[in-house]
Amino acid sequence: MRILILGSGGRECTFAWKLAQEISTENIFIAPGNAGTAKYGTNVDLSLKDFEAIGNFCISHSIDTLLPGSEETLVDGIRNYFENLESLKHIYVFGPDKTGALLEGSKDFAKKFMVKYNIPTARYESFKKGEELLAKAFLKTMKPPYVIKADGLAAGKGVVIPETLAEAENCVDEMLRGQFGQASSTIVIEEFLKGIEVSFFAITDGKDYILLPEAKDYKRIGENDTGPNTGGMGAVSPVSFVDDTFKNKVIEQVVKPTMNGLQNESFHYRGFVFFGLINVDGNPFVIEYNCRMGDPETEVVLPRLKNSFSEIINKAKTGSFSEIVPQFDQRYCTTIMLVAGGYPGDYTKGKPIEIGTVTNSIVFHAGIKISDGILKSNGGRVMAVSSFGETMIEALDKSYSSIKNINFEGMNYRTDIGKDLL
Ligand code: AMP
Ligand code: GLY
Repeated sequence: MRILILGSGGRECTFAWKLAQEISTENIFIAPGNAGTAKYGTNVDLSLKDFEAIGNFCISHSIDTLLPGSEETLVDGIRNYFENLESLKHIYVFGPDKTGALLEGSKDFAKKFMVKYNIPTARYESFKKGEELLAKAFLKTMKPPYVIKADGLAAGKGVVIPETLAEAENCVDEMLRGQFGQASSTIVIEEFLKGIEVSFFAITDGKDYILLPEAKDYKRIGENDTGPNTGGMGAVSPVSFVDDTFKNKVIEQVVKPTMNGLQNESFHYRGFVFFGLINVDGNPFVIEYNCRMGDPETEVVLPRLKNSFSEIINKAKTGSFSEIVPQFDQRYCTTIMLVAGGYPGDYTKGKPIEIGTVTNSIVFHAGIKISDGILKSNGGRVMAVSSFGETMIEALDKSYSSIKNINFEGMNYRTDIGKDLL
């Protein structure tokens, strides 16, 4: 395998870390990568919007496998681009094509899919520009709080949960007027589900699937889940309330019908499927699908995977997942995200980072680059500190004690990751 990973976050650093245990780092490339990925392969300065440049690099460097980390390149159709060009079609793209990626790229598409395949999800209706009155009439049939979602990708900001009808009506107007551009020219209004969130992940070869360990991430910036949403402030795996009964419901009611649906629709889906679930009184409901792994969930899920990741990727190509016996580390894995002061609002980059000796944790770099020979912050989420433990507390204690050896000006992190699960 000679692989190019696309992305520059903690997720991509974890992919590179895992692959570097299996194949020569000479065969691992990351575009654009970060200071951490540079330890596991070669960083390449490519724009993820520039498919032509990515294709040219793959040819000139004899890349045989492409692993897109984030949803944008998949939704933009990187797999279609490679498959449609004579010069690139021999290169294997591990991820869904443009249609499959709509599971994440269009909430309306995902909802229709769930309804068609009888997958539990919140009651909903979709509305287009010009249908404001219908949307407001539908709101009146719902109870507060109201859940209003931009149909398309909106950089994680496209979901609004207003408490009052007046605010909800206003939100309908703003979104349909183009608050998120094309992404909110259609909106989904759905029932508010009350429960605790948990994420499940599967990898599929288009026919069979491997269920990865579940994880819970912590999205808000502040302790006790307060303040604005972030990309994710930490994660734990496994999740204590996921017992066999709940897991079986997830498999039978969500995972299997999703896989059947993907096949039935002939999406030729391969790659990751991320199930964003909510546990409502012991029953799983799908809040969202993503067509890629989560970040920071990858930083706790992939370390638990004992199988070879490169073998899984290769077997997805040949449709031979049935040969794989998935094996996971039974210990807990937790990660704490260290973020820049000010994040998720305005924050400054370029802060020198000191990392002392960290022996009990794995540090996955995210927004970090090397400049003038020193590590400097280069993003809102700067690094993820992951640790194993026989108990969740032991794993968390290790991450928090490792963090004492890491510092940069303005460094912020949540001290309550996992506490709600104790
Ligand atoms: P999404 O982008 O669809 O994952 O939504 C972002 C966040 O909004 C989720 O992680 C949930 O916390 C919340 N959310 C979305 N849909 C619902 C819903 N139907 N009921 C309650 N909370 C929701
Ligand atoms: N951590 C949530 C996500 O990756 O979408």
